[in-house]
Formats: sequence, C-alpha cells, structure tokens
Amino acid sequence: MKDLVTGAAGFIGSSLIDSLLGKGRNVVGVDDFSRNYDPKQKRENIKEALQNVNFEMRSANLLEPGSLEMLNEVDTVYHLAGQPGVQTSWGSGFETHLERNVLATQILLERCLENNVRRVVIASSSSVYGPTNRESKETDLPHPVSPYGVSKLAAEHLASVYAERGLDVISLRLFTVYGPRQRPDMSIHRMFNSALKGEPFPLWGEGKQRRSFTFVDDIVEVFQLAGSVREARNRVLNAGGAEPVELLDLIKTVEELVGCPITLQQLQKRPGDPDLTCASKDLVTEELGWKPKTPLEIGLRSQLQWHNSISEHFHTLQEVG
Ligand SMILES: NC(=O)c1ccc[n+]([C@@H]2O[C@H](COP(=O)([O-])OP(=O)(O)OC[C@H]3O[C@@H](n4cnc5c(N)ncnc54)[C@H](O)[C@@H]3O)[C@@H](O)[C@H]2O)c1
Repeated sequence: MKDLVTGAAGFIGSSLIDSLLGKGRNVVGVDDFSRNYDPKQKRENIKEALQNVNFEMRSANLLEPGSLEMLNEVDTVYHLAGQPGVQTSWGSGFETHLERNVLATQILLERCLENNVRRVVIASSSSVYGPTNRESKETDLPHPVSPYGVSKLAAEHLASVYAERGLDVISLRLFTVYGPRQRPDMSIHRMFNSALKGEPFPLWGEGKQRRSFTFVDDIVEVFQLAGSVREARNRVLNAGGAEPVELLDLIKTVEELVGCPITLQQLQKRPGDPDLTCASKDLVTEELGWKPKTPLEIGLRSQLQWHNSISEHFHTLQEVG
C-alpha cells in the first residue's frame, strides 16, 4: 500500500515526501504545478524524490476526473494541495481559493470514502481562528477574518461531514511554517531575500504582529504521527511552533544571521492579517505525543543555507544557459 501526498511539489508536501521516502515508504504525489509562484521552484523541490524508485509523481489537478485513480492502492492520504495566502483570497481571488481549498477537498474526501482509504490527514490553518490576544485552543469558536480562513474552515467542516460517514480524518491547523523551500510570498522568505539581495522588505503595519513560527521538519513529523496514530476520531489539532515572536525581532535575527541590514518599506496594515497567532499545544501533545522541537534560530539557519544554495543553483543554471 502507498501513501498519497497531494500538493506534492509544494513547500510542505515535497518536504513530507522526502521524509516518507527516507523511511522506505512507497509514495505517490499529485500536483498541478499551479502558478501561485514560479513552478521552477516546485520542480526543484521534487527533483531529488524523482530519483527514488519508490516515488511516482502525477502532474494533475485534483479537480480533473482521473487525477485520483490510484486511491484503490492508497493507505494514507496527506492532503496538502491548496491555494495558500490570505491576501490573494480577497476580491475575485476567492474563486481560486474556493476551487482549490473547498471543492478539491470535497472531491478528494468523496473518493477516499469510496476507496476505503485508511486515514486522511488534512492541512488546515491557524487562519480559522481570527483575532485573539491569547493562545488559541481547538475548543475556541473559530472566527476567520479572511476569505482564505473561511475556505480552510469549510474544508475542516467537510472533513467532519465525511468522518460522520465513516472516513478516518485528522485536520491539522498549521501555524506559519518556515524552513528550506518556503514559498516566496511568505515573510521569512522575503526577509532573507531583502537581506541577501538588498531588496526592500514590505512591512505591513508597525511590525508588532506576533506569530507562532513552526519549522517545516516539525510539521513533517506531526503529519506522519497523525497518519499513523491508531484512531483519528475526526480530530482537529493545532500544529504550531514555540512562543510567538514579534516581526521586528525576527527581522533583527535575520539581519544578524545574514550579516546585512534589511531596508524596510513601511506600508499600511492589511485586512485579514491577525496581530497574534499563538498555538496551544496541549491537545496535540496529549493525542499525538508531538511538540515542536526546532528552536527558531536553528530553523532560520537551515532556511538561510537553502537560500544560499538556490541562488548558487540559479547562478549556475544561468551560466550554463
Ligand atoms: N505554509 C504555511 O505556513 C501554511 C500555514 C497554514 C496552512 N497551510 C496549508 O498547507 C498546505 C501546503 O502549503 P504550502 O505552503 O506548502 O503551499 P504550496 O503552494 O507550496 O503547496 C501547495 C501545492 O498544492 C498544489 N495544488 C494546489 N491546488 C491543487 C489542485 N487542485 N490539484 C493539484 N495540486 C494542487 C500547488 O501547485 C502547490 O504546489 C496548503 O493547503 C496551505 O493552505 C500552509
């Protein structure tokens, strides 16, 4: 039996695949290499996995009939395909979020039920919580403040509906994930770009926003624990990092690591960006025995190494080309 990873070429999906393959699992990945950022980065993410005989990659959109025909030989599904990003979900952008976060999830859940898939683990988001001034617990009433958050909450609700019909599902609410392969629209990626290339860093608001940053290896671990725990019982669990860190403090840390200053481009606070995200970890620790392990500075060093390696890689490609 195989593991299916949707969103296989993305930041988190590709990192999960490398870990599963490292443990000798047979993995099939699906991704349509959508243009939410440069598909060249996505091809690079999946390059090493493609060398592994236990890996099969399908380039397909979950919305297309036939994209999930392998499900009859799948044991565990890790559903990471989706349209991330709060700001792109406003206005006409919502249509894509609706299709890729809600409709694609419903199609996947339906097909998983038909094929008696053993376990489905879904990537939800801290964006379902909305404004808060304290730790968010899974028992809090969700109150999303962006269309993106609404789409992720709808996907969680779809998961419960299918769980009622017998599907074994866990939704993990991810809190700002960072590390090698991070998406270029995310703040830490932009900070490194600013420090390394001298590009201004767009600072929306005063920089007092605080986030529970979570290192990608810790996320990869919690996904696998969720995939292997004996019974899912339609659980929704936080997957969030250590104590929240203020954006301005993070900027200072990145400047120190790179050894170059970051030029700030001061901009107005954007709608849908919460002042605080902070994960309560009690339930996920109790249910899965998981706690994030990676200190912020170690994780940032690892991401910096990746930024240096991709700029060298693109430099070499340009020279060769
Ligand atoms: N990165 C974070 O901090 C974060 C936080 C909360 C939740 N999430 C969720 O985790 C998941 C992965 O996020 P990421 O940062 O790796 O994003 P990503 O954009 O790097 O990866 C998502 C991948 O899914 C693919 N995809 C999207 N819709 C598809 C479809 N219909 N069919 C096939 N492939 C499709 C895209 O091409 C992309 O490669 C997303 O669902 C996102 O909403 C991420």
